[in-house]
Amino acid sequence: MGAGEQAIDRHYGSADISARILAALAAAGKDPAQLARSDLAAIDEFHGGGIASTRELARYAGLTAGMAVLDIGCGIGGPARTLAAEFGCRVSGIDLTREFVRAAEMLTERIGMSAQCDFRHGDGASLPWPDASFDAVWSQNMLMNVPDKAALFVEVARVLKPGGRFAFESVVAGSGEAIHLPCFWASRAELSHLVTREALEKLLEQAGLDIAALDDTTASVIAQGHKRKAAVDRADAATLSIAVIVPEDVTTKMDNALRNNEEGRTRTVKGVCRRRA
Ligand SMILES: C[S@@+](CC[C@H](N)C(=O)[O-])C[C@H]1O[C@@H](n2cnc3c(N)ncnc32)[C@H](O)[C@@H]1O
Repeated sequence: MGAGEQAIDRHYGSADISARILAALAAAGKDPAQLARSDLAAIDEFHGGGIASTRELARYAGLTAGMAVLDIGCGIGGPARTLAAEFGCRVSGIDLTREFVRAAEMLTERIGMSAQCDFRHGDGASLPWPDASFDAVWSQNMLMNVPDKAALFVEVARVLKPGGRFAFESVVAGSGEAIHLPCFWASRAELSHLVTREALEKLLEQAGLDIAALDDTTASVIAQGHKRKAAVDRADAATLSIAVIVPEDVTTKMDNALRNNEEGRTRTVKGVCRRRA
């Protein structure tokens, strides 16, 4: 792993995320030995729109039962488990943050979903799967951390079957003014690699990923951000919130994500591409 990849691992990873999650679940009155997927809803979908946007993107991309899906930047595996449990997909996840991958495996095993979802540590720009392995590639809120998106999209196209779909959500650059930091994907400027929506479109097309649909989701992500912030503000030691997996500066990161969107410094998009045959 290069210095850039290690920096991402340090940014998202903190020691013993798995132990912290289990302790937080117990404090919230859940039984860590008898976990259900719904017990994790407040912490395992680490992107602006939460589980509602995962469901919406899956419908938008036309995911159906039996599809093989790759989730790049899978975090602790919430979206992968949602796609498997609610859409019948078989999901592989890959993530640069080792502690997230460990937590994804541990939670998936406890919930009894290891036959439908597997996880591995690695870089989305260098995927360890053969050509044409997946019906769909999925990515939520990780493109902002990727300096060489052209290389990532070439890999996405390579592992997709011809006609396969790439479904994604991402923050993109807005007005061009500097963003407020720290935010969820970057504690400092070197970790943030935002491009405009137009630049993203060009990079996708150049990689052979034809854009079928691309929507601006900024307004709904702002609304969801206010709800999530209210939940964190209300939270006490017994409440599950995104603070469990973001132990440092969670309130500031939340405020900055909202300010960046509200001031037009960033925007958010969701899209579906088809791999050119
Ligand atoms: C904001 S989190 C989103 C996690 C997950 N997609 C979700 O929505 O719950 C971004 C994730 O992308 C991962 N990531 C960033 N760059 C990556 C790369 N080049 N390859 C794989 N994962 C990466 C980070 O480690 C982190 O887990």
